[in-house]
Amino acid sequence: MTEIVALARRKKWPFSSRSSVAQLLLAFGLLSSGSVLAHGGGPVPSASRLAKACLSAALDAINRRAEDVLIAPHMQDLSGTALRLEEVGNGARAIQLSLGRRYGAGYFGSVYRIESHVGDIQVPAGFDGALAAKFPHSERYLGTTLQYASRENASEYRNYRMILGRVPDIEASAHYPRNPPWPRGGIPVIPIFDRITTARETILIKPAIENALSLKQLARKYGSLDERGRFIFNPPARLRESLREIHAFVQAVADAVPSQKKLFSPLFGAGYHADIRQPNLMWIEDPEMLRRLGYDPGRPTFILAELSQVPANYPMYRADITSADQYEEGLLDYLEREIGK
Ligand SMILES: Nc1ncnc2c1ncn2[C@@H]1O[C@H](COP(=O)(O)OP(=O)(O)O)[C@@H](O)[C@H]1O
Ligand SMILES: [Mg+2]
Repeated sequence: MTEIVALARRKKWPFSSRSSVAQLLLAFGLLSSGSVLAHGGGPVPSASRLAKACLSAALDAINRRAEDVLIAPHMQDLSGTALRLEEVGNGARAIQLSLGRRYGAGYFGSVYRIESHVGDIQVPAGFDGALAAKFPHSERYLGTTLQYASRENASEYRNYRMILGRVPDIEASAHYPRNPPWPRGGIPVIPIFDRITTARETILIKPAIENALSLKQLARKYGSLDERGRFIFNPPARLRESLREIHAFVQAVADAVPSQKKLFSPLFGAGYHADIRQPNLMWIEDPEMLRRLGYDPGRPTFILAELSQVPANYPMYRADITSADQYEEGLLDYLEREIGK
């Protein structure tokens, strides 16, 4: 069992200047990232393909640099620690978590395997797999939680519940994919089983997605560089189909779900524009993992790590701005850079 190294996490320190600087830097990184102007599209739909490709490559480089320079070295890695979480409200639960390895980290948080826990965590009846916990980032040196990252977890949960409540409307959209592999009444997003709100932060509990291929692994499994350095990608047909299902699903969400950020609705329309940039895609082939999630075990699929809104609700992935073909090209560009790393 993991040794308990930190039973009580340090209190937040809201006035830390280091914290504010890190928050500003993270906000800058986010805004300058490909999430605003990602591959295959751009602010000016008529821009030439070459210009768009250069722009998206530059933004992607900034994005990665921000992650490598600002986030990875400066945020806490909680893998291998044990924590006691005291919930405020909601029955005032006390939950002890032993965290295993870190599955991944994004702009806002890190996701860890839960090795064991004591206390009540809500898990759907019949779910028999491992769990994961998504913590908002904390600074490494002072241990202060980035409060906007914690708010992002809280809004991820709210939006997830809200979107699940709209599934009948989403399924009624003309854009909804035919015969998708995810369970009826569901969405192609890692489910959020529970949310724990402490005085310090909001933590999300999800099923652990095991044996999924990261995009780098995907690039290596089905791709190679030829002698001239060109990327050759030969995935199963199902991969392309799955990508199209995700793209179609996001169109259906925009049709059926009202935006939570109204400021730009007069410009961009009232729909909810989900952020499906490449790092939020996970490819699952393992039939056992598919079964655990209630998917058809015979149909490998992409699943989204989260369904948050594109910054400013810019309709980045609407079909008239990024078509399904362009979304696919964007993935290819991304994989090509992953394999080259
Ligand atoms: N439930 C999970 N099981 C395994 N890995 C996960 C899980 N959720 C997320 N990940 C990995 O962690 C990364 C960051 O998670 P994500 O929720 O996208 O955080 P952020 O909001 O910071 O972008 C993902 O890109 C994915 O690789
Ligand atoms: Mg993410």
